[in-house]
Amino acid sequence: MEKYILWNGDIIDSKEKDGLISFDDRGYQFGDGVYEVIRIYKGALHLLDLHLDRLFRSMKELNITPPISREQFIDELGKLIGHNQFDQDGNLYVQVTRGLQPRAHIYNPGSKAVYYAKIDHFQKPVEILQNGVSVTVQEDIRWLRCDIKSLNLLPNIMAMTNAYHNGFYEPLFVRDGIVRECGASNFFLVKDGKVITHPANHFILNGITRLHVLRLAKELNLPVEEREIDRNELYTADECFLTATPLEVVPITHIDEHKVNGGEVGRITRKLQKRYEQSISNDLYTF
Ligand code: PDD
Repeated sequence: MEKYILWNGDIIDSKEKDGLISFDDRGYQFGDGVYEVIRIYKGALHLLDLHLDRLFRSMKELNITPPISREQFIDELGKLIGHNQFDQDGNLYVQVTRGLQPRAHIYNPGSKAVYYAKIDHFQKPVEILQNGVSVTVQEDIRWLRCDIKSLNLLPNIMAMTNAYHNGFYEPLFVRDGIVRECGASNFFLVKDGKVITHPANHFILNGITRLHVLRLAKELNLPVEEREIDRNELYTADECFLTATPLEVVPITHIDEHKVNGGEVGRITRKLQKRYEQSISNDLYTF
């Protein structure tokens, strides 16, 4: 982690962070809060507007009063990058909790939200971008508001850890026979040249990378479909890939023991990876 963090409007040395979090913080007690992970390329924020849109939407859906305005967020994130003189590649983590209240399930809408942000160095995960990953199908036991980027990630954590210990990169969640998304990324399938992904509704997080890749696919004149994918379609797919902010577009070469495209990375996945890379500079916010 970089030296300075943003804590409720102040830039402080991360060494001083111990003791800042209150026992009464609802984020600490209930996971009652929201977050964003924003990619940084050479010190500039990628797709910042879309991330802020989603952050504010998540707060609204949970009835959390934003602690500061959107413009103030931009200003303070700029200060965080500036203080750290951060001009490299990384991830910016922003979190907002409902704030401090004596522990009770029923919240008081009046508390002042607590927020912080930090920067972590992160390099493009070249190996998996090149060679792809394996995923394992698991039952989706999450709640029915997966569209909210909530701190409450217990089902994801359990499924991700289970997948990891069984040699897989991520779980692939299936609910009611429909493929939803992965543990910390969105899922795409390619069939007969069409790029297919789950519709943006309460069953999935509407990933910013997902939105961006759909846009890039359209620019490449690839037919795009946002529709439910039956579990059986996994085994006849031409290509599969996952998308997430830190990872970009990662090919999926195996689903459990099944080899996708004979275990080789597909042509359309490569095309989208290339376009993604080329387009990064168009969507950067430089302070
Ligand atoms: N996770 N679906 C889930 C459940 C996720 O947790 C994420 C991202 C995504 C992809 O969203 P985006 O393209 O906006 O990063 C989809 C982040 C990276 C995390 O929890 O660390």
